[in-house]
Amino acid sequence: MLLRLLVSSFVLAGTSFAVPTKEKRVHRHGDLSDHPHKDAAAGFQYDHEAFLGKEDAKTFDQLTPEESKERLAKIIGRIDIDKDGFVNHSELHYWIKHRQRRYIEENVNKHWREYDANQDDKISWEEYKNTTYGYYQGEEFDDVAEKATYKAMLTRDQRRFTEADRDHDGIATREEFTAFLHPEEFDHMRGLVVKETMDDIDQNGDGKVDINEYIGDMFSPENGEKEPQWVLTERQHFHQIRDENKNGYLEASEVAQWVLPTEVDHADNEAKHLIHETDTNKDGLLSLSEIMDQAAVISLSTITDYGGMTIAEHDEL
Ligand SMILES: *[C@@H]1O[C@H](CO)[C@@H](O)[C@H](O)[C@H]1NC(C)=O
Ligand SMILES: *[C@@H]1O[C@H](CO)[C@@H](O)[C@H](O)[C@H]1NC(C)=O
Repeated sequence: MLLRLLVSSFVLAGTSFAVPTKEKRVHRHGDLSDHPHKDAAAGFQYDHEAFLGKEDAKTFDQLTPEESKERLAKIIGRIDIDKDGFVNHSELHYWIKHRQRRYIEENVNKHWREYDANQDDKISWEEYKNTTYGYYQGEEFDDVAEKATYKAMLTRDQRRFTEADRDHDGIATREEFTAFLHPEEFDHMRGLVVKETMDDIDQNGDGKVDINEYIGDMFSPENGEKEPQWVLTERQHFHQIRDENKNGYLEASEVAQWVLPTEVDHADNEAKHLIHETDTNKDGLLSLSEIMDQAAVISLSTITDYGGMTIAEHDEL
């Protein structure tokens, strides 16, 4: 029973952050170039699975190399706005932004249909709660831990729903529901995203994150395993970058700057990163052959819809 509850929440969590997983700590798809994984392709796979979940991540892997190249060529043709045969930084930047917006819209539409049970084009808290937790309400839990998990998830969802529901009428409009599913996209949800992150990481509940809590959230060694390089790098980042006031802890404001960095254009970063990885002759332009040579890197990135390459023929730019 709990399993079903967890599964249904994970469906949400794949796109919002209702259930925390370490991969998703940094929002807005993160800085790819700032990724803890050294190997670019592995990094993309990692990001990509974090974003979509393993199920969808398979899509690309299941294509034959010929099929994936064919799809990629089509997508590239559409990124190349002026059809000069090359993809430049501004074309790539524009495309990535467009795909991210599109992804959020589609995700909201999908859940909208699911949760708007009475089809009045609004989602009340009760509707959401019934759809997500209906089965468990009024249920007698034998297992104390199960009950606690259920309560914690419900409380968290309700807090987020209330925060997203700006006019506090208990009913989410599409805009409010978007803020509920994708709080990282909304300034007024920032505080909440930070609170949720704190709730997950701050194990001893002292209101700040120490180095052990920080590392423990992303890495737990299996018996006697040595810390890999990326964890050592994260240790350095904690002290050198994240802990701005150098007091040995991350307070809420430092957590905010970490998980929701301001002044960072992720689409720009990803465009630069992809060009860096792919532009073999260093002329700043991506040719079709350069892209094909790096098909594995490209196909797992945002430009192909997080690897699904599911961009339909009729999609408009
Ligand atoms: C990149 O492509 C766009 C549109 O396709 C074009 O307007 C722009 O001038 C190009 N930029 C550079 C630096 O070539
Ligand atoms: C939610 O479920 C309760 C209990 O089954 C029911 O009384 C209520 O009408 C439902 N509300 C909505 C909006 O579906």
